[in-house]
Amino acid sequence: MKPDQDLFGKTAFVTGGSGGLGKAISNALASRGAHVTIFSRRLGPLEAAKNEIVTNCADARRQEINAVPVDLADAGAVSEAFKSQTRIADFLYCSAGGNHAENGFFVDLKASQLDSCMKNNYYSTAYAAKAMLDIWLEDDKKSSSTDTQKEPKRHTTRKMVFINSAAAFLGIPGSVAYTPAKSAVRALADTLRFEFLRHNSAMTTYTVHIAFPADFVSPGFRLEQDTKPHLTKRIQGTNLASFEELENKFPSSEKVALGVIAKVDLGSFIICEDSLAAGCLFTNMTGLSPKRGLGIVDSVMGVVVGWIVMPVLRRRWERMCREDGERM
Ligand SMILES: NC(=O)c1ccc[n+]([C@@H]2O[C@H](COP(=O)([O-])OP(=O)(O)OC[C@H]3O[C@@H](n4cnc5c(N)ncnc54)[C@H](OP(=O)(O)O)[C@@H]3O)[C@@H](O)[C@H]2O)c1
Repeated sequence: MKPDQDLFGKTAFVTGGSGGLGKAISNALASRGAHVTIFSRRLGPLEAAKNEIVTNCADARRQEINAVPVDLADAGAVSEAFKSQTRIADFLYCSAGGNHAENGFFVDLKASQLDSCMKNNYYSTAYAAKAMLDIWLEDDKKSSSTDTQKEPKRHTTRKMVFINSAAAFLGIPGSVAYTPAKSAVRALADTLRFEFLRHNSAMTTYTVHIAFPADFVSPGFRLEQDTKPHLTKRIQGTNLASFEELENKFPSSEKVALGVIAKVDLGSFIICEDSLAAGCLFTNMTGLSPKRGLGIVDSVMGVVVGWIVMPVLRRRWERMCREDGERM
């Protein structure tokens, strides 16, 4: 293992670590030597994921892999679950989420589905981030109060990574419970990026990162295909005859995980590694997020996307929605 890949001694918490992307991230971090703790609700998938992650460890005798059942939409339970771990995480990956149970047009959704989608995507992320930051800052406080007697602690970098969705850049018809929740996650990341600067010190650097994957193959993605309206499938290009065709067309969770982790290693805030389309959409929606690289490509692309791509896309979706309405 190259020294810059070595994560022995580091700890990662991964929410949604029993799902497609969360498990792939956990496997990749474990293969680099990290201790990994995964958090999600269902015991069966948690246990199966834990066993798989153990087999992917760089050296299982030196690594601890844990699986913790918790509903991340319950702030108190998340805080308890994080505090009860023996190690403090160096990295928090928030991958819990999805919307297979909340697909559909606004008119067809129940209010309870709007609620659960916000809980599973926004609150699961916000509560995990809050619980983690509280622990980190408490630890900083303790370390600085003991520093007077002992050698100063070595500098640490603590990273928080939000797995969001390209849906945050688009109001996709038929995904109306999901897109607002994912837009809220982006707003959280943008705001925390500023607020984290208040907590940086000679001892600790805090960073936040946000990934916007487009569709990729996972258990959640498979379930979604049965609940998405046909119009949504046409818009997303998921209206294929079989799941095998989808698997051939869209990237695997493992591929997306490696792309995300590589960008986190480099310190990127905005991560659109798996999808050129998501990367292009971001350029027209930068807001106060830093542009990628030197910002030159994002600035030029932003003009092209805003001037040509967005109006074409908007008119196409308007036409598809009108036609879909006429078929009702
Ligand atoms: N797959 C895609 O095409 C795609 C595209 C863009 C973005 N994303 C995003 O990427 C992330 C991972 O997606 P995926 O496709 O890998 O999903 P997945 O296979 O459905 O896995 C989702 C994970 O989140 C956990 N989870 C959901 N709600 C939770 C809650 N309230 N408390 C605790 N755990 C919860 C699930 O476990 P339990 O159900 O057992 O709790 C599971 O471990 C999600 O945030 C998703 O929105 C996915």
